[in-house]
Order: sequence, then C-alpha cells, then structure tokens
Amino acid sequence: MDAGEILAASRIVPVATIHQVDQGEALAECLCDAGMSSIEITLRSDAALATIERIAHKLPQMTIGVGSIRTAGQMKQAHQAGAQFAVSPGCSETLLSMADELAMPFVPGATTPSEMIALLDRGYRLQKFFPAQQAGGLNYLKAIAKPLPEVRFFPTGGIDATLAAEYLAFDKVACIGGSWFISDDKVAAGDFQSISNSVKQILAEL
Ligand code: 3PG
Repeated sequence: MDAGEILAASRIVPVATIHQVDQGEALAECLCDAGMSSIEITLRSDAALATIERIAHKLPQMTIGVGSIRTAGQMKQAHQAGAQFAVSPGCSETLLSMADELAMPFVPGATTPSEMIALLDRGYRLQKFFPAQQAGGLNYLKAIAKPLPEVRFFPTGGIDATLAAEYLAFDKVACIGGSWFISDDKVAAGDFQSISNSVKQILAEL
C-alpha cells in the first residue's frame, strides 16, 4: 500500500512532538474519539519511538505515522515500532532505498520542481510540501503544481485553521499536516477537552 492509499481517509494529519508516552497515548485517544483517523509522531523527542509503539498497540484503529525522518536507521526503527507510514521534510537515496526495502509507505518532502520531478521519477505521486507557508504558501504551490499534474501534495509547516480550509480547497492537495490544534502547552497540561473541541469544529467545517 502506498502512502496515498493509507492516508486516503485523512484530510488533516495531526503532527505531534511528544515528550511523554502517556501524553502521546492520551492525545491519540482524544484525536481518535474526536474523529481523526491518523496521527504523525515526529522524531524530535526521545519519547517518539516508544510513543509510536504504544499508540500502534493501544489504538490499532488509528493510522500511525512517523515524521521528521532523516536517516534510514530511523525509518527502520519506526517501522519496527509499528509506524504505518513515514514522512520526511526532504529526501535522500538512502531513505528511498530503505522505504523500498521495508515496503514502507513514504511521503518524501520537496519544495522545488526539480526535487518533485526527481521524486516522481521514483514513483512518488504524493509528496510533502514543506515548509508550506515559509516556502511560498498556496500561491507558490498552485504555480508549481500546474506543470506537474501527476503530483498530489501533503503540505505542512505554518498552516493554521484559516489556511487549512484554503489548502484543502485546492484539488492537488490530498491532505495537510499541522500542529495548530494540538499545541505543546495543551498536551502538556492534559487539556484534551479543548483539543477535542477544536478537532470537532475543524472536522465540522471541512
Ligand atoms: C512538520 O513537521 O510537518 C511541521 O513542523 C508541522 O508544521 P507546524 O508545526 O508548523 O504545523
């Protein structure tokens, strides 16, 4: 299964950096109960792999992914921990080889036409566009998408509630990622009621 298929039910992928496994499990449970079907745990904390393992075990109904992948070794570890898809801010030969070896659904990142064409050449029709806002936002994405009709995008980086609707209205955007509704403060404070309310509102407006 490729990443596009595994994320087909997700229009918004919460991108979470988790510092305590219990908080990650509670967040995933909250997101799942509020109606989200996937979560991406970034490899930007010591607790990331253990959190992926816990969520994969406790919430098998959720599609769990790993984000901020930089090395092939990280991809292998995340796969062993139970990640069902992997996302990287960029790409490298070693990442592409490891994704092939593991048959891991992978969303590599790109921001320029040459990077996107190189990924298309390797069969990647779903590509992360990162950092979306900082790289030029939706206008840039629309311009770059025009001569690349085969590519569908997973923009992340700097997206908020208003921008989310605008990105999702563009037919080349398969899904978006973001952390605006799962702030570190709310997760650390255990304010899952507020997160749940935000998610329900976001999903109702899609
Ligand atoms: C990512 O890793 O994809 C981004 O950091 C998520 O972007 P955001 O935190 O700006 O939403």
